Amino acid sequence: MTNALAGSRVVLGVTGGIAAYKAVEVCRRLIIAGAHVAPVMTAGASRFIGETTLSALASEPVQSSLWDEDSPIPHTRLGQTADVIVVCPATARLLADYAAGRSNDLLTATLLATRAPVVICPAMHTEMWEHPAVQANLATLRSRGVHVVEPESGRLAGGDSGHGRLADPARIVAEVAAVLTAPDLAGLSVLVTAGGTREPIDPVRFIGNRSSGKQGHCLAAAAARRGATVTLVTTAPGSAPPGVAVVAVNTAAEMHIAVAAAALTADVVVMAAAVADFRPALVAGDKIKKSAGVPEIRLEPTVDILAELGRAKRHGQTLVGFAAETTDVAANAEAKLGAKQVDLLVANDVSAEAVGFEHETNAVVIYARDAAPVPVTLTSKAAVADAVLDAVAAHRLQSSGS
Ligand code: CTP
Repeated sequence: MTNALAGSRVVLGVTGGIAAYKAVEVCRRLIIAGAHVAPVMTAGASRFIGETTLSALASEPVQSSLWDEDSPIPHTRLGQTADVIVVCPATARLLADYAAGRSNDLLTATLLATRAPVVICPAMHTEMWEHPAVQANLATLRSRGVHVVEPESGRLAGGDSGHGRLADPARIVAEVAAVLTAPDLAGLSVLVTAGGTREPIDPVRFIGNRSSGKQGHCLAAAAARRGATVTLVTTAPGSAPPGVAVVAVNTAAEMHIAVAAAALTADVVVMAAAVADFRPALVAGDKIKKSAGVPEIRLEPTVDILAELGRAKRHGQTLVGFAAETTDVAANAEAKLGAKQVDLLVANDVSAEAVGFEHETNAVVIYARDAAPVPVTLTSKAAVADAVLDAVAAHRLQSSGS
């Protein structure tokens, strides 16, 4: 389950639009993720980027002709061996040819000669994108199960701005991975919390922590990709992934209210947020002035949301806690697993290099009540998210059979 792209065969079709240069970045990212990339360029694409560029980065040389001497039937080889075909960018002409079933070059012939899923990434000027003929072709392709990575709004090649700019390469690669991923969490409702809470001292100051919310957001994105219906309660709603229901909160008390409501119907709750344990007992109505001297801020405890969920846990609900530790990681994690009555506890040593708060990477050990600890060595937060969800899936399978 972790990284569906690893070992997959991807045919990367590139057509003739200015965004063809971004296909190079898509290719690079697919290769880094472990995919085998077979690039196919149309004649139009060759006017925008050199074949050598893609050949150098991909797993095999670019093919662009149906009449390649070495292989009399390149389209059937490519189409039949592909796990997924990605067309990036897809011009209005490609959409028209594909919708009409034309096979006038190697790429369109390969698209007809496959049963693999197809992901198309349109890019064109706003006027073309909005033209009824283009939208009708897209509707036809969608009705046949073709995945469309919607273009974005932004600056276009002519210097003007509008809708039609190729989607971000990272998003394209994520959607390709999603297409390759089996929806093993389909039918489940997953609640994820993310970010660090902020406890106000006065109208301008707060007590906070260094959590960025990245790990929680990766968990929400991965759960959605794996078919779950996801609610994300987060203190960083601006960077929330698409396709999840977002509830924005600031304080531990707000998070408590949001989580208590959403947990009633959640099959899985993942508390990745760094929730403040204490908050100022009194919040000053006006800014505390320096001239008033060093303030004494009395703190009071917040509700331990996870422990409360543990006490109220329904049969069939899976509870996942996180533990950010700097010392005695294993002992503290085992203790929290029991004390908070959770099924899984994801522990990270946030004092280690490149681990936890604010980093793009993480290293964790997943402790379970009913299984041996699973170490996940330093990797991307997206990969950690998939490892945590793998543990959730395994736990649910085990408890449904026991
Ligand atoms: N947690 C929570 N509510 C709180 C504090 C923590 O739900 N008020 C959750 C966190 O989201 C996390 C888990 O409890 O999933 C453990 O959080 P952590 O800060 O590591 O542990 P604490 O219980 O706060 O204990 P300590 O600070 O002493 O390590």
